[in-house]
Amino acid sequence: MESLYCSPKTGLPIKKIGDNFISESGDEKFPIVNEIPRFCLAKNYSKNFGFQWQKFDTTQLDKNNNLKFSENRFYGSTQWNPKVISKQNVLEVGSGAGRFSEVFLKTTTGILHSIDYSNAVEVNLKNNYKYKNRLAISQASIYEMPFPDSTFDKVFCFGVLQHTPSFKKSVVALIQKAKKGGEIVVDFYPIKGWYTKIHSKYILRPLTKRLPNKILLKLISINVGWMIIVFDFLCSLKLKFLTRFIPITDISNFPKQLTRKQRKEWAIMDTFDGFSPEYDNPMRIKDVKKIFAENGCGINFAGVINYEGGSSAVVKVTKLKDQ
Ligand SMILES: C[S@@+](CC[C@H](N)C(=O)[O-])C[C@H]1O[C@@H](n2cnc3c(N)ncnc32)[C@H](O)[C@@H]1O
Repeated sequence: MESLYCSPKTGLPIKKIGDNFISESGDEKFPIVNEIPRFCLAKNYSKNFGFQWQKFDTTQLDKNNNLKFSENRFYGSTQWNPKVISKQNVLEVGSGAGRFSEVFLKTTTGILHSIDYSNAVEVNLKNNYKYKNRLAISQASIYEMPFPDSTFDKVFCFGVLQHTPSFKKSVVALIQKAKKGGEIVVDFYPIKGWYTKIHSKYILRPLTKRLPNKILLKLISINVGWMIIVFDFLCSLKLKFLTRFIPITDISNFPKQLTRKQRKEWAIMDTFDGFSPEYDNPMRIKDVKKIFAENGCGINFAGVINYEGGSSAVVKVTKLKDQ
C-alpha cells in the first residue's frame, strides 16, 4: 500500500525508518505504536472516546449485529458507488471503533485512509484486521492531518464535527485535504430549533464531562434500566417531547431489530457518548452549508437523510477550487 503520509505541520515528505516516520531533515519523528503511526499526543481531549470505543468495541459494528445499519447510513448519506470509490483516494476522519471503515472495506476493493484523535484507532485496526493491507490508519487530529493538501477524491466525516473545538475550522480542514473536484460528506448533530439545547444533556454536561469516565459509565449503567422504561412509556403516550428531561440518549432512533440486551447496551454507549465529550457543538444545517459555500465548495445536498433504521443531518459538497 502506497503511503501518503507527510509531516502534518510542514506538509513535507516523511519516511518510514524502523518504528518511526521521520522527516528528511530528521527534525520530526512520529512513532509507530502497535502498528499505527501516531501524529498527535496520546493524551488529548478525545480520551473519553478512546475509553468508550475500547469498552464498546463491537457494539455498533454491522457484523456484530447482523444488520446493515452502518452500511445504510454510509451509502444513504454519500450515494457513492462502491466500484468508483474502489479506485479512488478516500479519507475517513474520526473513525471511532471503525463501523464505517468496515463498511468501506467490506463493500469495496479500495484503500481507506483513516484517522482518529483517540486511541480508538487500535480498536478500529483490531475490528478490521483482516483488511489491514487496505486500511492506512493513524492517530491524528483533524487540525493536523498527515496528508498533503488536495489529495483525496472523497472525504467522509460522520458524527465527529460537533465534538471538535471549532466546527468551522474542522470543516475548512476537511476541504483542504480534498482534491479540486473531490467530494466531501459530513453528518453531525443538527440544531433543530430553540428547544435543541433545552435538554438534560446540555444541562448536566458541565458536570458529567468532568467526571472520571469509569464513574460516569457506572452511573449510566445503574440507571439505564428505569430510564428506558420511562422513555418508552412517554413515547407510548405520544409525549416524546418530555423524554428530553430524562438523562438518556434518544433510543427511539435505534434499529428496531435490536434485541432487548443489545438495545440496553446501545443505550448505555450512546448516553456515555452524549454526556462525556469535552465538546458538543450542534449546528444548523444551513450554517454548515454556508461554511462549505464560503470556502470554495458547491453544495450537492444539505438536509436530513432517512435510511433504513435511522436518519442523519447531512451536507454533501464538491470542492470547486483550491483555497
Ligand atoms: C461520536 S464518535 C464517532 C465515531 C465514528 N465516526 C462513528 O460514527 O462510529 C466521534 C469521534 O471523533 C473523534 N474526534 C474528536 N475530535 C477529533 C479530532 N480533532 N480529530 C480527529 N478525530 C476526532 C473522536 O475520537 C471519536 O472517535
